[in-house]
Amino acid sequence: MLDIAFVRSALPKSGALVLLAEEGDSPDAIRAATDSATGGAVSRALEAADFKPKPGKTCTILAPGAGLSRIVVIGIGKRADLTPRLAEEAGGTAAAALTRDPAASVAAAELSPELAAAFAAGAALRSYRFDRYRTIEKPEDRPKFVKLTVLSADHARAREAWASMRVVVEGVHLARDLVSEPANVLNPAELAERCRALESLGLKVEVLGPRDMNKLGFGALMGVAQGSANEPRMVIMHWHGASGGGKGKRARAAKPLAFIGKGVTFDTGGISIKPAQGMEDMKFDMAGAGAVIGLMAALAGRHAKVDAVGVVGLVENMPSATAQRPGDVVKTYSGQTVEVINTDAEGRLVLADALWYCQEKFNPRFMIDLATLTGAMVVALGHDYAGFFSNDDELAQRLSAAGEATGEKVWRMPLAEAYDKLIKSEIADMKNVAGRPGGAITAAQFIQRFVNSKPWVHLDIAGTAWASKDNAVVPKGATAFGVRLLDRLVADHYET
Ligand code: BES
Ligand code: MN
Ligand code: ZN
Repeated sequence: MLDIAFVRSALPKSGALVLLAEEGDSPDAIRAATDSATGGAVSRALEAADFKPKPGKTCTILAPGAGLSRIVVIGIGKRADLTPRLAEEAGGTAAAALTRDPAASVAAAELSPELAAAFAAGAALRSYRFDRYRTIEKPEDRPKFVKLTVLSADHARAREAWASMRVVVEGVHLARDLVSEPANVLNPAELAERCRALESLGLKVEVLGPRDMNKLGFGALMGVAQGSANEPRMVIMHWHGASGGGKGKRARAAKPLAFIGKGVTFDTGGISIKPAQGMEDMKFDMAGAGAVIGLMAALAGRHAKVDAVGVVGLVENMPSATAQRPGDVVKTYSGQTVEVINTDAEGRLVLADALWYCQEKFNPRFMIDLATLTGAMVVALGHDYAGFFSNDDELAQRLSAAGEATGEKVWRMPLAEAYDKLIKSEIADMKNVAGRPGGAITAAQFIQRFVNSKPWVHLDIAGTAWASKDNAVVPKGATAFGVRLLDRLVADHYET
């Protein structure tokens, strides 16, 4: 993670300098000082570039003098419209412009502590890189930017605001690491071990193996798992931030918030095998679980005053002599039976058992599941909004608001009896697929059959879990979509 410090505002004597330019206002003190120290280089460059300080616009001046390696001027639009979200984007834009400089300072004296911290968060989010497996990259090709100094009028308060944002960024980075890992490394057992490591943050972590799950009767999850040589796991992560006071104490969590993730560490499709083209992308089919794990790490890291449980169903979907067949009937933990028409519709089978277990065992206040569930959701909404389904208007509204606030945007989709009918089976209680029309919706209807009357959201992140191009705070690759969204939902409504 980018090393971030907050200090009193003063003109830096070396490194790169980021200046924030707002619309319709005179330059701040540091910009004026920089301009004079560089013999007017800043104002000349802005004039020559015909620079308009709209959000996202940048102007770079190389070797401007005064000991600086580079000046990056970033537009932040109108001061009155500057939200934490926009400050974060400005930080991301800055980080993208600074990859060649080891250290930079940003002149943020005129930002509130919250906005200054949000700028830092954006820079940290954008600087993420998964480079574990690069062994021959030339040093000159590596990004050099490692240290950001935020020049802040109220640096103590900005540092404090950053402390809780920092652990959320760490949760995002953790989720991105997990989703980026190849499936030969990150199989269910390994992913469960990575969850266990979070006990160091004060989470209590339980791991169920195949024998436990067979005994419990997780026929749907185990049906998916049976084709793989890699054993399945279910991991339950507990955070007692409201009742238990962290580790040790016994107090019982009354009604935890519950987050459930699809953790298919690789999805070949099983016997209903996927085409070769693009199949490598299916290592990301545990992104729902990755987001739940990152979220639990964030809640624990910032000592959120809430009780929460994260449940992830971890399996690999493979074709083999032991794999389940199209037409097989499995008995879910709920007792309901499912005719498995298509073994590639495996995520809903995993979630069926995970959701039922979660609500039976923990009587949660609500359940939110996340899954890279359907190609149909990608067709419906593309890559900018995740689609969600809910049986609860208040929860749905809160989630949408958290989406707007964090930039992890969500759009509500319909649930209705007419779609539910489409998954009737001739021989079992339901089948696991309907036709192509409304494919994301019929998947949600399937999942809803495993939810009692509890408030529930199903979030289909198939289109948003992986980015094929950079955006302001998310470099291309694994996005960790859901971590910031749900952290915000919890922070805004559920902490005591
Ligand atoms: N993991 C996939 C969904 C997916 C597909 C996510 C493409 C991202 C990109 C899921 O397990 C799946 O295979 N779904 C099928 C369901 C179908 C068989 C009803 C799909 O969407 O094609
Ligand atoms: Mn599949
Ligand atoms: Zn899948």
